[in-house]
Amino acid sequence: MKIYFAPLEGITGYIFRNAFSGIYGHIDKFFAPFISPSEKCPMTSRERKDITPENNSGINLVPQILTCRSDCFIEAAKELQAMGYSEVNLNLGCPSGTVCAKGKGAGFLPETLALQKFLDGIFSYAGSSDLKISVKTRLGYYDPDEFYDLVDIFNGFPISELIVHPRIRSDFYKGEPRKEYFAYALEHSKCPLVYNGNIFTAKDYDELSGLFNVSLDTVMLGRGLITDPSLADKLKGFASDTYLARFRKLHDTVYQEYRKVMSPDINVLYKMRELWSYWQNLFEGRERDIKRLLKARKCAEYEEIVSSIISYSTLRSNSVA
Ligand SMILES: Cc1cc2nc3c(=O)[nH]c(=O)nc-3n(C[C@H](O)[C@H](O)[C@H](O)COP(=O)(O)O)c2cc1C
Repeated sequence: MKIYFAPLEGITGYIFRNAFSGIYGHIDKFFAPFISPSEKCPMTSRERKDITPENNSGINLVPQILTCRSDCFIEAAKELQAMGYSEVNLNLGCPSGTVCAKGKGAGFLPETLALQKFLDGIFSYAGSSDLKISVKTRLGYYDPDEFYDLVDIFNGFPISELIVHPRIRSDFYKGEPRKEYFAYALEHSKCPLVYNGNIFTAKDYDELSGLFNVSLDTVMLGRGLITDPSLADKLKGFASDTYLARFRKLHDTVYQEYRKVMSPDINVLYKMRELWSYWQNLFEGRERDIKRLLKARKCAEYEEIVSSIISYSTLRSNSVA
């Protein structure tokens, strides 16, 4: 079984990836949050810093590109190849209003003729330059039945892996994934498939495998891995008695690394608050402290609350056991 770490913009940047991979194993590939190339510039200095190999040593990283222009995709891919990357991922799933309004991400899905032409362009480049292109897609923009045509389109290209998040744009990340459409892909797609969406526990994975009547070979995990960083260990059957110690190490490493590159305190704390929006459910009975932590405006205050939460807690057993 292979486990991929989903890209989560604002969360799984190089600081988080390094901290995570130094403490937890069993991730076969990390996907970087998207870069968004423009006509003038294949990537910003901030985007470059996130994916440069020197900031990702020992991490099997796949950069992701968000665009609806084949020329911009190819220019960005050339830069990524020059950095040493042999696979890039195309984002056809981002549901954000500003992204979709520009016809990118999930906003590209209903433009099937333009999409076909775009894929012709980038795969003809890939064929001549030994580049692998994987695709991360939703089912459609307006209606999940758009997926039937999309599968036919994708079948015309040598996509190295097709990662399917079985929701439409207006679902954003809410509600149950429309798993029956992934079952359709299992029958009709010629591309190697990766399932993504709402796997938070080993039980969720087992239920999916039962539903599809196959043991899913490759899954991509996002929020589930942030919420329970040892989820990949559990899915692969590696038991551990160090959940809390490793969680503390992950927290402290991410926090210290953010402190090195960010100021004032409040900017660091904004980043940590986002993580705690996932972690808060791990600490049963500490709701009042977590509320205080989410309001802290100074690092000293934050550190004191974190210490008291982590030192005197056990992780909530049903989330992480
Ligand atoms: C805060 C946030 C940021 C995200 N950023 C990206 C991104 O940069 N690229 C992408 O393809 N998907 C992005 N996603 C979608 C995730 O990669 C993933 O598809 C989604 O969270 C569903 O998987 P999960 O249920 O395992 O979390 C983002 C999702 C969230 C919640």
